[in-house]
Amino acid sequence: MRLVSTDMLSEDMVLAKNIYCGECLVIKSGYPNIHKYKDNLSNMGIRYVYIEDGKSTDIIVPDVITEKTRQNCKNVLIRTIGDFRKSNSLKLVDLTGSLEQMISDISRNQNVQVSLMDISVADEYTFSHCVSTTVYALLIGKRKNYSKRMLEMLGMGTILHDLGKILLDSNVMFKEGSLTKDQFNYVKLHTTSGYEVVSSCGNVPKAAQQILLNHHEKLNGTGYPRGLKEHEIDEFSKIAAIADVYDALTSDRCYRKKWSTNKALDYLIENSGTLFDAELVRLFMQQIAIYPNGSMVRLSDGRLAIVKDQNPNVPLRPKVRVIGDEYGNCCCYEEVDLMEVLSLTIVESELEITESA
Ligand SMILES: [Fe+2]
Repeated sequence: MRLVSTDMLSEDMVLAKNIYCGECLVIKSGYPNIHKYKDNLSNMGIRYVYIEDGKSTDIIVPDVITEKTRQNCKNVLIRTIGDFRKSNSLKLVDLTGSLEQMISDISRNQNVQVSLMDISVADEYTFSHCVSTTVYALLIGKRKNYSKRMLEMLGMGTILHDLGKILLDSNVMFKEGSLTKDQFNYVKLHTTSGYEVVSSCGNVPKAAQQILLNHHEKLNGTGYPRGLKEHEIDEFSKIAAIADVYDALTSDRCYRKKWSTNKALDYLIENSGTLFDAELVRLFMQQIAIYPNGSMVRLSDGRLAIVKDQNPNVPLRPKVRVIGDEYGNCCCYEEVDLMEVLSLTIVESELEITESA
């Protein structure tokens, strides 16, 4: 399995992972004529899909949670928020069940590094973002050896972290592009308004409530809403802040294309100790595949390759399958373990490459 740009879909490719639009399954994995839907997928804002072809059949892209769990969690969240809009009360039974499933998946997969997250259309960003952010937060919680109860509270607070956004004017909250100063000050209110809701509902644990209030606080006091400093911010919120920013940077938005894994991790490292808790960033990075299986990379000699497998503890040097020369022409597939060929490095990664050999 590998990830290719929608523009590069061709006759020999079979869809390898389901494509969803909201709650609807649009195209099921195994579909053989995916190239015929290039334009439709592009129009839906889907820029990449997982496919199987002769170059990648034996490459496995492990999921940290199953696709079923991810979709179920997103759908339950959509329903929970929809019910809240109508009744003004938060019914959390189903969401608690979904989080338990997510925690169970994450606990079962001991050594899986997170690969690319789900491929979804841009207008579904809000709910996909909440689910992905929760996965990332739980991975950090797992590394901290949190108990199941702690993980449940961390998960509940993280999945609801932006609840306040749906309570405020959506024209401002979901405006794509730059905001005026007044608009930005308005956006900041989503922290306090979300917190007020969950603290008055009475069924969200206090530790989880703090995440809604504090997930935009920064260690150096430059965050909002209260400008708290390092020791004043609870650990759950520090975790959610890392997960929230990482997922935002690595997601496609209408106004900005997603950053590569590498670039987003660099951002977290650069701001470790100033904006983000350095130890929590370190724990997070241990679980992210910098060059995920199935992604395309360019080697320092110009050749194109697909990442085949990871070398444990050496994330910058995976095993790769070379599929094209430096001019983009197909070549004999060659397996290269970058731990064994130290003269070669990866110079370009995943989504920066749009050519297919
Ligand atoms: Fe937020």
